This record gives sequence, structure tokens and C-alpha cells, in this order.
Amino acid sequence: MNPNSSHLSLVRQRFALHCLFLLFFLAPVSSTAQNHDHHDHHAYHQDAATGAATFKESVPEEYRIMERTPVIASQESLLRGRHLYATHCAGCHGRLGRGDGPAAATMKKPPADFLDFAHSEQYRPGEKYWLIAKGSTELGMPGFPQVSPEDVWHMVNYILALQAKVKAEGYDSPPHKH
Ligand code: HEC
Repeated sequence: MNPNSSHLSLVRQRFALHCLFLLFFLAPVSSTAQNHDHHDHHAYHQDAATGAATFKESVPEEYRIMERTPVIASQESLLRGRHLYATHCAGCHGRLGRGDGPAAATMKKPPADFLDFAHSEQYRPGEKYWLIAKGSTELGMPGFPQVSPEDVWHMVNYILALQAKVKAEGYDSPPHKH
């Protein structure tokens, strides 16, 4: 696929519309839970595959095909993303993105392990954006309508950077320290 400028401007236009949309539909979402057991990863891949297909069909095409985030992954973006991730996401996805947050053990569909690269790469950056903003009942992932579009992109940047870092350095060295 070869994105041309009219397509990009369409994406920007839709993105701006999406921002407006979010301004009008802010709603608080709470996403905490406490449980410290581990869960079993084995059964969920097949289940997740069908959910993934249904979810992907629901993503508008301009997001589905987005290979990159429109927000530059600057140091500021990654720091903001890390902070937001720790606040909203680590309870399920785990501090280091391994899908092993405290809430994971209580869930029928476990949160994604971002370091399971084959699994995570099913979702392009635009699809990650859409999933985080809107959520998906098929995937069992809550939406975050109260988080601004730009902040959602900061989190996508953070997850992609975390993955790139672990790919480059391996699992043995912690991807980051708080
Ligand atoms: C209540 C638990 C829960 C919370 C909180 C949560 N997620 Fe998820 N997330 C899930 C589940 C369940 C899935 C689907 C698992 C799968 O991939 O099949 C998922 C999937 C994802 C995926 C797609 C898989 C991938 O590797 O790309 C992304 C991206 C994601 N979550 C990001 C986030 C971000 C960012 C936050 C915080 C703003 C967040 N999630 C908060 C449970 C959660």
C-alpha cells in the first residue's frame, strides 16, 4: 500500500473529527482490580484469533491501514506514554507489558502480552489506537474515551518503543526502570 497525500489528509481530517467526537462523549472508566495469581495463557490464542477478526472488521479503514503513529515518538511522547500506561494499563497488561498485571488472573480473556510479538503484530498502530480509544467486547479490552486522542497515541508510541527495545536487547534486561 502506498499512502498518497490525499489519503493522509483524509486520515488527518478523520482524526480531527474523531477528536471532536471524543470531546462530546467523555465518560469515566475505571479499570482497577486486585488479584495476584498467575493465569494460563494457553487456551486464549484461538479464541483471540476469532475475536481479532471481528474487531478488525469494526475498525475504520483509515485506522486499520495506519502503519505509523501520527504523533512523533519523541522522548516527551514516550515519557507521557509510560506515565499513562502505568496509570491506566499496567493493572491488566503488567508493568513491563507481559500481560501479567494484578487484574489478569481474574479475567476470562487474559490481557495481551505485548512481548508476544507475533500476537501483537496482528494489530497495526492504527488498530491499537482504535482498540485503546474504543475498546472491544470481542477482545475483552475496555475503551478509554476519557483519554485524549493524543494521549492514546503517546501510549501506542510507548508500547511500540518497549517492543523495539526488548527486540533489540532481549528479555533478560528489563525494558525500563521506574
Ligand atoms: C481490564 C483489563 C485491561 C485494561 C485495563 C487494558 N487492557 Fe488492553 N487488552 C486487554 C485484553 C483482554 C486484550 C485482548 C487480548 C488479546 O490480545 O487477545 C487487550 C488488548 C490490547 C491491545 C492489542 C494487543 C496488542 O498487542 O497490540 C493493546 C494495544 C492494548 N490492549 C493496549 C492497552 C492500553 C494502552 C491500555 C491502557 C490505556 C490497556 N490496554 C488497558 C485488557 C486490558
